[in-house]
Amino acid sequence: MSQTKGRLYGVGLGPGDPDLVTLKSVKALQASSVVAWFAKRGKKGHARTIAEGLIPSGAVELPLVYPVTTEIPHTDPDYNRQLAAFYEEASQHLAEHLEAGRNVALLCEGDPLFYGSFMHPYMRLKDRYDVTICPGVTGMSGCWTANGVPMTWGDDVLMVLPGTLPRDDLAKRLEMADAVVIMKLGKNFQKVYDVIESKQLLSRAFYVERGTMQGEIVMPLAEKTDGQAPYFSMIIIPGEGRRPE
Ligand SMILES: C[S@@+](CC[C@H](N)C(=O)[O-])C[C@H]1O[C@@H](n2cnc3c(N)ncnc32)[C@H](O)[C@@H]1O
Repeated sequence: MSQTKGRLYGVGLGPGDPDLVTLKSVKALQASSVVAWFAKRGKKGHARTIAEGLIPSGAVELPLVYPVTTEIPHTDPDYNRQLAAFYEEASQHLAEHLEAGRNVALLCEGDPLFYGSFMHPYMRLKDRYDVTICPGVTGMSGCWTANGVPMTWGDDVLMVLPGTLPRDDLAKRLEMADAVVIMKLGKNFQKVYDVIESKQLLSRAFYVERGTMQGEIVMPLAEKTDGQAPYFSMIIIPGEGRRPE
């Protein structure tokens, strides 16, 4: 690829604690003259918050602000259309800098290739520009460490589930797993709680909010009886070690 074009860095920043940012990610930031990040309107976003103090002085900051999609149900085709248009436009903004020979660091909470928004511009730009992806400590890793209970023993099967799945899907998949991580709670919290309870897993489950960040909450799920949770939280069910069948 042309030497004059910039390089895109997907910069994984870990779950929140700045001490969990890797040296590779720090070096990628230092090598970039443009620092971009995704955020909701009016919010700084977790990735930019974690990167505080790591942005090179003089770097151009490029916030990529999501369209307001909260009023549109996720099942509405309009939701996906708006998001696709947004990612297309965001990719074009990044491409303008790359085309001009500037290295661009796109900040990512956790790991860039694990449910990360980074993947959308990455898939659009990867064949046109050089890309370096810096992996990050995942949110779930930060959360189970905050919980301090071993997560998988021996042949335990770990399942990662988005809380957005329908109730029946969640129930079926819970039956198959030994250890479970359920992400994307928010409005889905009570549904997920009910399914876990119906599968007699409540006593093994933990709730983690803002794992490794300021304001971290870690508690047994059974004690979380207020029926609500922010999006930035997860439920973890540690495995107990598979017994031979
Ligand atoms: C779009 S995914 C991003 C995942 C991220 N790329 C990673 O590697 O963990 C967002 C979900 O990650 C989970 N999450 C990530 N980091 C977290 C943390 N520090 N504390 C609690 N939940 C977290 C939440 O369930 C949230 O709904």
